[in-house]
Amino acid sequence: MKRPPRIRVIGSINLDIVARVHALPRPGETVSGGVLAHYPGGKGANQALAARKLGAEVALFGCVGNDSARDQALALLTSNQVDLHGVKVLENAATGVALIAVDDQGENQIVVAPGANALVCATTLADMTGEFDATLCQLELPVETILYLADTLTGLLCINLAPAKVIPQEVLNRADILVVNEIEAAFYGDQLHGSKGLIIQTLGAAGAVAFQNGKEIARGTSPVVTPIDTTGAGDTFVGAFIVAFLSEGSVANALAYACAAGAAATLTAGAQTSMPNRDQVAALLGNTA
Ligand code: RIB
Repeated sequence: MKRPPRIRVIGSINLDIVARVHALPRPGETVSGGVLAHYPGGKGANQALAARKLGAEVALFGCVGNDSARDQALALLTSNQVDLHGVKVLENAATGVALIAVDDQGENQIVVAPGANALVCATTLADMTGEFDATLCQLELPVETILYLADTLTGLLCINLAPAKVIPQEVLNRADILVVNEIEAAFYGDQLHGSKGLIIQTLGAAGAVAFQNGKEIARGTSPVVTPIDTTGAGDTFVGAFIVAFLSEGSVANALAYACAAGAAATLTAGAQTSMPNRDQVAALLGNTA
């Protein structure tokens, strides 16, 4: 593909309220000494920005509330020219919020209060038509909405099954590409490989692997990095994979590119604040040309 890929992302938009702590709390434990920060987040918004920063034309569809969190949540999408005409401002809901703790190793715990994301439905998505090379969804929207999208969308559909939740098999069957991490792969088990689509499983620092019809077809390794904050790294992987796959059509090359992009996203605090541009990914790939 010579022109930039055109990607439609239908997904969540959050404000991430992040406490940086030395160690994550165990159930019932209080950890003090945290340092607070606010960042734009939400898996849909994160994947939209990741793809945009890597050269795609991106339109995001979702919902926010009419509150101050909305402006913070949309700030980086706006400044990076993600098309937001499909983001509806709802009067009767708050903008989604994620409460996140990040420890000294960059690992996180996330609790999401979905707010307006829980109201994304066929009505709020009435104007999602357009010319797109692919559509990207995650599971931070209601299951009925994901089912509606699987039933009605045409064209290449990539679903990131995050966070894992029970969904009808027909959704998995409809997807051309499914992306899971190790926890999500264990959650779906054989249900995943019932799908005829391409299955991409991320393996954290060990990279990622692609399956088709139950057989491994490609594997990518991650550059070695020392993570500061892994929040949004999976979203960066997904955005980068779809951009590279649409641009080149090679699963192996797209996996390598997405692994490098995901690793780059761990080097800065925050989800969207950490998303790399093409030069930063190329540098980690060892290809600075
Ligand atoms: O994948 C990371 C994202 O998950 C965070 O930005 C948070 O908002 C939650 O949606």
